[in-house]
Amino acid sequence: MKILLIDKDNPIPAGYKPVLEEVEHGYYMEKNAARCMKKLLEAARKDGITIEVFSAYRTYDYQQKLFDDDVQWNMSEGLSYEEAYKKTASSIALPGRSEHNAGLAADLKGDDWDCDNWYNFEKTSTFKWLEKNAPRFGFIIRYPKDKTQITNFIYEPWHFRYVGCPHAEIITRKGITLKEYLELCNCKFK
Ligand code: DAL
Ligand code: ZN
Repeated sequence: MKILLIDKDNPIPAGYKPVLEEVEHGYYMEKNAARCMKKLLEAARKDGITIEVFSAYRTYDYQQKLFDDDVQWNMSEGLSYEEAYKKTASSIALPGRSEHNAGLAADLKGDDWDCDNWYNFEKTSTFKWLEKNAPRFGFIIRYPKDKTQITNFIYEPWHFRYVGCPHAEIITRKGITLKEYLELCNCKFK
């Protein structure tokens, strides 16, 4: 399976157009990712954990809007345009540089989600279930807490990237990022 590295330096290749499939409630992912996500959600439900998708595939236009709105919000909080842009760029990717634009990522939450502090997610039983089980469905925590220098994004415990099996399990077991994994196995373009 070809694993796409998508980040600031590696935009989605021109012409890449994911075949989308609905996960649930109008949220779509690339079809293999969607099928694995549905299995993950079902397995969680069987374990008494209700997981909800709150963002999945995004168009480039929507990604731009998210970016622009966040810059505006940061400016309304008193930052200059440059400061606001920099802050936004640490948490939201530009269009074509987001895994969401490829349909390969989903943001997940549980009924124990704290709207006022998204970071409290890591303390929830939903997150603990995902941390343990997401890799066997092919998903990794793409922006880990201790790897922000490598990912160039803030810690996002809610953002799960589909890489497939056994890659997700190996990446998680090794405690490395997708970029490090692809460098290690030199399989970026396979
Ligand atoms: N929040 C992640 C980095 C994205 O916008 O794709
Ligand atoms: Zn995300």
